[in-house]
Amino acid sequence: MTDAPHGDIREAQRRLAEFLADTTGQRLFRHPTVHPCNPTGFCYCDRSLAAKVWTYLKGVVLTVVLALPFNRLKIWLLRRMGAIIGQNVFISVGVQVDPLYPQLLTIEDDVFVGMNARIFLHEFRIDEFIAGRVVLRRGAFIGWSSAIGCGVEVGEGAVVAAAAVVARDVPAGMAAIGNPARIVKRRDASAGRESDDG
Ligand SMILES: CC(C)(COP(=O)(O)OP(=O)(O)OC[C@H]1O[C@@H](n2cnc3c(N)ncnc32)[C@H](O)[C@@H]1OP(=O)(O)O)[C@@H](O)C(=O)NCCC(=O)NCCS
Repeated sequence: MTDAPHGDIREAQRRLAEFLADTTGQRLFRHPTVHPCNPTGFCYCDRSLAAKVWTYLKGVVLTVVLALPFNRLKIWLLRRMGAIIGQNVFISVGVQVDPLYPQLLTIEDDVFVGMNARIFLHEFRIDEFIAGRVVLRRGAFIGWSSAIGCGVEVGEGAVVAAAAVVARDVPAGMAAIGNPARIVKRRDASAGRESDDG
């Protein structure tokens, strides 16, 4: 476990910086690592004290602001942190956006994000580090307490159901339901329910 399958970590960090700056056109960055209980070279905890404190503070501020009911403040802060947020976006109370790389998040116009939804922009696995862009396309609806994995795109007008765990793309106009999410055709409310009238 101590013989790191890191490859050249400096080179990997350079590639990660390029990925974060969006010069590669890629949706995912992946690099093999040792078990994440050991220094991987990708955790903020491996950096200098100043970098650790800065990253931690950024995370606390983002988490606190996202817990509040002030939509405009949340959108302003996410944009300041590098996320791309469109017009008429609503972010409910208690949403969690991975504070490590908020610049990997894009939310297009007219997107609703429900209470306590979680958006992951990086993940450590047992032998790999992954960072990924999440894109919520125009008009998408993200249900409460859902989890959106890193690298996922939720298509235009698509629905993520309450508590769904989404690790793969959701095509436009479809719904992702359950854990792991299954993709079904989105029901059109104007079609009504036969049981609505009893
Ligand atoms: C996904 C959702 C939109 C589905 O609505 P719908 O099209 O009316 O679908 P139905 O209620 O007819 O359910 C379709 C099927 O999915 C199941 N289902 C619906 N929502 C589900 C959920 N969140 N988790 C698991 N299964 C769900 C239903 O049980 C049903 O299963 P069946 O076909 O085996 O009977 C709705 O259930 C939902 O999750 N809305 C999110 C609301 C929300 O989070 N709002 C934000 C508040 S902050």
